[in-house]
Amino acid sequence: MRQAAKVIEAETTLRPLVGVVLGSGLGRFANTLTSATRFRYSDLPGLPLSTAVGHAGELIIGNVGGTAAAVMSGRFHLYEGYTPQQTVAGMHLFRELGITRVVLTNASGGINSAYSPGSLVLMSDHINLQGVNPLVGPNDDSLGPRFPDMTEVYSKRLRAIALAAGQTLGIPLHEGVYAALLGPTYETPAEIRYLRTIGADLVGMSTVLEAIAARHMGFEILAISCVTNLAAGLGEGKLDHKEVLEVGRSSSAAFLQLLGAILPQLSE
Ligand code: HPA
Repeated sequence: MRQAAKVIEAETTLRPLVGVVLGSGLGRFANTLTSATRFRYSDLPGLPLSTAVGHAGELIIGNVGGTAAAVMSGRFHLYEGYTPQQTVAGMHLFRELGITRVVLTNASGGINSAYSPGSLVLMSDHINLQGVNPLVGPNDDSLGPRFPDMTEVYSKRLRAIALAAGQTLGIPLHEGVYAALLGPTYETPAEIRYLRTIGADLVGMSTVLEAIAARHMGFEILAISCVTNLAAGLGEGKLDHKEVLEVGRSSSAAFLQLLGAILPQLSE
């Protein structure tokens, strides 16, 4: 990853302290950055080669209200065939860039009946049902401990900053527990009843492995989920990826405002 960081540092004088990963339908945030330099993942040695068709993976270094950020537009999902280690490559690149705080975003299905499509939810915790962990294998003690504590994966301090920003902007924010499944199938209604029983408010197919790797390295993490649909069996009809993308895009105005307000406070 040092090589990828070198490529980036040769092209821009910005030195981001905050990293962002944009989830499905939330990619528009990348266009709001000023003084932006864009890197295709394929030009950054150490990042996995993207296999997904039509998936423009890009890292953008730019300013958000005077704060330099590194923004990943497009992430690596297990269901695409990446290994658990590959899915967290972005976190290792962030570390090489000197980043210690990350904002992870995603689209999710809402299980908690207080949520509706378009709801924004701060992840307060997660349940890893993906069956794998990116830290399996020899531990790199220079990154973090063999048995990392996961008591507070999603920083209370950063959540408080986000909640305050939401209040100021008049954007309602929920908090909830995200269950990560492997995918790529959406869940069955029975699986959603099970997830509700075990304490999940949201369900999705990403974010958790990144959060584990980031927490292992001592990062402070904020995770924001955009509920794009009621989880299987809770709404009318079937689940559709197009709908997920559309709701992601249509709630992105609030999401963009929120990120724009939060990020400058994260580099302090
Ligand atoms: N399930 C899993 N992942 C998702 C969903 C869902 O209902 N919506 C958006 N991502």
